[in-house]
Amino acid sequence: MANDILIIHIKGLVQVRENQVSYVAGSAMANLPVLSDAYLYISDGRITDYGKMDQLPPLSADEVIDATGRFVFPSFVDSHTHLVFAATREEEFVMKIKGASYAEIAAKGGGILNSAKKLQQASEDELLEKTMERAHEIIRLGTGAVEIKSGYGLTVKDELKMLRVARKIGAQTPLTVKTTFLGAHAVPSGIKKADYLKQVIDEMIPAVAAEKLADYIDVFCEEGFFSMDETEQVVETGKKFGMKPRIHANQLHRSGGVQVGVKTNALSVDHLENIGNEEIQLLKGTHTMPTALPAAAFFLNLLFPPARKMIEEGLPLAIASDYNPGSSPTGNMQLMLSLACIKMKMTPEEAINAVTINTACALELSESLGSITRGKTANIFITQPIPSVAYIPYHIGNQVIEHVILKGRIVD
Ligand code: NIG
Ligand code: FE
Repeated sequence: MANDILIIHIKGLVQVRENQVSYVAGSAMANLPVLSDAYLYISDGRITDYGKMDQLPPLSADEVIDATGRFVFPSFVDSHTHLVFAATREEEFVMKIKGASYAEIAAKGGGILNSAKKLQQASEDELLEKTMERAHEIIRLGTGAVEIKSGYGLTVKDELKMLRVARKIGAQTPLTVKTTFLGAHAVPSGIKKADYLKQVIDEMIPAVAAEKLADYIDVFCEEGFFSMDETEQVVETGKKFGMKPRIHANQLHRSGGVQVGVKTNALSVDHLENIGNEEIQLLKGTHTMPTALPAAAFFLNLLFPPARKMIEEGLPLAIASDYNPGSSPTGNMQLMLSLACIKMKMTPEEAINAVTINTACALELSESLGSITRGKTANIFITQPIPSVAYIPYHIGNQVIEHVILKGRIVD
């Protein structure tokens, strides 16, 4: 295995940031620095040097890659997924096509509770095997770091099982993994919400913390799921146990999720299909990263977050996949770029910033990932020969990535 890798004749080295930035916001999102006719030098897992080909110093490398006609990107950082699940839900997809509503599907045992039932029946090994396949799938699609949530367990033992699987993905693949406890995703059947919340607060959070299984805590703040007050209560308990908040906010209604997120100093508020000017103003000047999940909006035929307005108001915007069996059965970040451009009217440059440096910031990883910067972890991908950066979102639904390097190693 090569330790030092030199990539030469790069048509465009994308997202080169000489100076460390933690995120980009507002009009700065339109700026995506690209170095043309470049080289990139990777040693001991890090980006050690880059520059123009005509200034290539004599460098020794175990492996030299000729990237003529190809672009090199920092790997995508996917800051919101539910990668651990036991079964897909295409039967609900078909029911929806035929006109069934969310409530009708839920009444027939569908939705989050359907996923919970199947996950409860699966062993940790089975779950790991399935999740591992998805992990390799997203690696091939250009993702180098991923956040993984629990929330399909809904019992102490099954939430722990999910988070252990998520941690194993971090240990057994080259992906950088951050984990999030989402016990408050739905109320299991046969138990009162107040009793379930008590379980989340008194049993699940301490148990998750005892095994150090979660970096973050999340709540599905939504009508019919968890209210603003309930969200705040869960999140504040999580904070006491060292888990910083990130919140499922404003997906189906103006749920108040953004308000709770800002109040509790959440790292991110995710979804945002239903936000107005009030939420946008509230997010200004905070440390809370607004995050759009355009595949979920697309899959459920929802309105898309008002990205243009948010950017015009000076906010940063991150974009993640929300990979899950119910509302976004894909972790393809190249597709997120297309949806961002087509459905949210973002430019390719803005969209690429949203899936690299801004998602890295949302996961507290922007010191090590999210851009081509000396000293950062060498998580990159090399495209096929393509005409331009804009070609990636333009070439909808296609794989344009040829090689992946994670933590300085070529991934087969
Ligand atoms: O982010 N919104 C809530 N939770 C997930 C998936 C829900 C599901 O499994 O149906 C989401 O869309
Ligand atoms: Fe989600």
